[in-house]
Amino acid sequence: MKTPGAVLLLLWLGLLAGAAESEDIDLLKLKYLRAQVQDFESRLQASEKKTRDLQNEIKNLKENGGKKVVFSVSLEKDALYEHTGPFEIGKTLVYKQLFINIGDAFNSSTGFFTAPVRGVYDFSFSVLGYGGSARVGAHLRRNGQNLVMAYATLDRGDINASNGVSVLLEKGDKVDVYLPAEHRILDNYHHHSTFRGHLLFQM
Ligand SMILES: *[C@@H]1O[C@H](CO)[C@@H](O)[C@H](O)[C@H]1NC(C)=O
Ligand SMILES: *[C@@H]1O[C@H](CO)[C@@H](O)[C@H](O)[C@H]1NC(C)=O
Repeated sequence: MKTPGAVLLLLWLGLLAGAAESEDIDLLKLKYLRAQVQDFESRLQASEKKTRDLQNEIKNLKENGGKKVVFSVSLEKDALYEHTGPFEIGKTLVYKQLFINIGDAFNSSTGFFTAPVRGVYDFSFSVLGYGGSARVGAHLRRNGQNLVMAYATLDRGDINASNGVSVLLEKGDKVDVYLPAEHRILDNYHHHSTFRGHLLFQM
């Protein structure tokens, strides 16, 4: 298959050399041409098969592999100075400022991210504490289970804490940032307390 032209040429030369004088040269030419056409035909069929395979692969990628998921949010929209907490019972943070939400996997009315496909996702979040003493922190959770925590103790002034995780999620898994009981964070129009995530790749 690699050098069919050369092989055919040798074949033709062989036929030519072995040809009896009585045999018609035109007939040999015809045989050579026929072999060449057969060779072209088989190469064309192989290339058509390759094209079909590629088209199927592209279709698959479009349907399953090209998923784009990214969100980026901040707790407050245009507040000057807004504490969240401390509460007696912990609660999921509901982020008000949406920077981006491609794939609509982040629900801004609940604060929950729902994995649209099985895959590896990357999340990070940060919290700011400001003014007076407080416990500053939040958990990043999967399906209500703590994964990682950002935490700091505030004496005075301000402090921030952040964390992140890469994790395999099943389709439908829910991720949120949870403010534990008796913790307090702050955000304002500068956007200190943020949450972001994206799909790295499907599995
Ligand atoms: C967000 O969650 C609420 C409450 O579960 C639901 O009613 C709403 O349809 C969701 N929004 C989107 C865009 O999925
Ligand atoms: C908050 O985090 C930023 C970097 O993200 C850092 O530059 C700053 O010093 C931190 N502030 C406090 C009070 O920890």
